[in-house]
Amino acid sequence: MMIETERLILHSLSFADLDNFAALYSDPEVNRYLSSKNGLTREQSGDRLKQFIIHQEAHGYGRFAVSLRDGTFVGNAGFLVWEETGETELGYLLKRSAWGKGYATEVATALIKWIFEATNLSHVIAFAEEENVASRKVLEKTGMTFTDIRLVKEIPFAFYALARDQALS
Ligand SMILES: CC(C)(COP(=O)(O)OP(=O)(O)OC[C@H]1O[C@@H](n2cnc3c(N)ncnc32)[C@H](O)[C@@H]1OP(=O)(O)O)[C@@H](O)C(=O)NCCC(=O)NCCS
Repeated sequence: MMIETERLILHSLSFADLDNFAALYSDPEVNRYLSSKNGLTREQSGDRLKQFIIHQEAHGYGRFAVSLRDGTFVGNAGFLVWEETGETELGYLLKRSAWGKGYATEVATALIKWIFEATNLSHVIAFAEEENVASRKVLEKTGMTFTDIRLVKEIPFAFYALARDQALS
């Protein structure tokens, strides 16, 4: 499965992405606002990759590898079912060298269009730590609506949602 944007290519994950995952999740700055906080070891990154591949097989959608058009890996992004509510959650993370170029906004916009075409989901959600300004800006720029602040594992998160009708209008 593949999604193309103006500057980026998203492709389904495979175990060939392990080195890229290990590098991405080893950077504490990238993990600062994620459950992986201080970063993951290579083994833990491999476990995460495996979880994403299993999710893709179980649900027909999941996280994608994000690359530049020349094939350079820059991160991963896509959708996971959030176990707490059963809703489908948009998420993304990029290598530090790829920040500040509008890539996350480009990827999130393409993913939102894609999920409502590829599935019959009524809505998707996303959440970012309340103080994760960059991520919240991405969500706002893609047209997601802020709903509320909720504590997840005692950390305040800003929640967003987007309904199918809203996304396709
Ligand atoms: C969040 C993340 C994906 C944003 O990626 P990005 O490609 O740099 O985002 P964009 O370039 O599309 O920028 C979106 C907006 O955020 C702003 N922004 C980016 N980094 C910022 C920062 N550190 N502080 C404040 N604003 C920031 C941009 O200026 C832009 O707003 P603008 O168009 O009004 O100028 C990236 O910072 C990242 O991978 N962070 C670590 C992982 C993470 O936190 N993921 C989200 C978990 S919820």
